[in-house]
Amino acid sequence: MRLDKFLSELNIGTRKQIKEYVKNGRCTVNGVPAAKADVHIDENNDEIAFDGVPLRYSKFHYYLLNKPAGVVSATRDGRNETVLDLLAGENIKGLSPCGRLDIDTEGLLLLTDDGDLIHKLLSPKKHVDKVYEVHISKPLKETDIEKLENGVNIGDKNDDGSVDLTLPAKVQVAEEEDAEGNPVIFLTIHEGRFHQVKRMLEAVDNEVVFLRRLSMGSLKLDDDLKPGDYRELTDQEINELKK
Ligand code: URA
Repeated sequence: MRLDKFLSELNIGTRKQIKEYVKNGRCTVNGVPAAKADVHIDENNDEIAFDGVPLRYSKFHYYLLNKPAGVVSATRDGRNETVLDLLAGENIKGLSPCGRLDIDTEGLLLLTDDGDLIHKLLSPKKHVDKVYEVHISKPLKETDIEKLENGVNIGDKNDDGSVDLTLPAKVQVAEEEDAEGNPVIFLTIHEGRFHQVKRMLEAVDNEVVFLRRLSMGSLKLDDDLKPGDYRELTDQEINELKK
């Protein structure tokens, strides 16, 4: 791979800036200042550094976004801001959201160009846990909790026309209501059907007034990551997700 391509993929600068940086001796290959920006390097074995800081090449990119409300989980949209618009400072080529959150839903969204991982995490066969913080319009009765946990009819049908109940889920009622006095529950589901959480609550005659995803598999939303903010995943998080 060419050094300037490597450096631009890591967002070190534009091709023009990189040329200048190399000219000024700020980029080293195995400890030696690179002679030209277009020299070929072995991105997997050479030690490339910028201003003395070693750079690591990664074929794929992984970002955890705290999706704010009002933004769509798409790569392009004619009308609304997209989750990719929020990563404008990054090299977003090839990035896609791993699954969708509704426009009014907040919380954890993984964005990556690792198609295999997306496929794995979204595969209905893998039953990856997703935990949602759900603010609802009225308290749940014990019988509602049982229904939600055992499976409810949200209007989906199997191929043979029979009702396709939701898979067993877990409900935990929060001790405190939200600032508006709405009850809060933590709902863990293992599927990702369209508007699933909202439809599950509707099935027990309730209504979601606010929804935030807190986790997906081993990946957890940080408490201090504000809506609209994002960060790269750590190596450990990537490895855990791939397991
Ligand atoms: N379930 C919903 O109803 N909406 C979401 O955004 C995610 C899960």
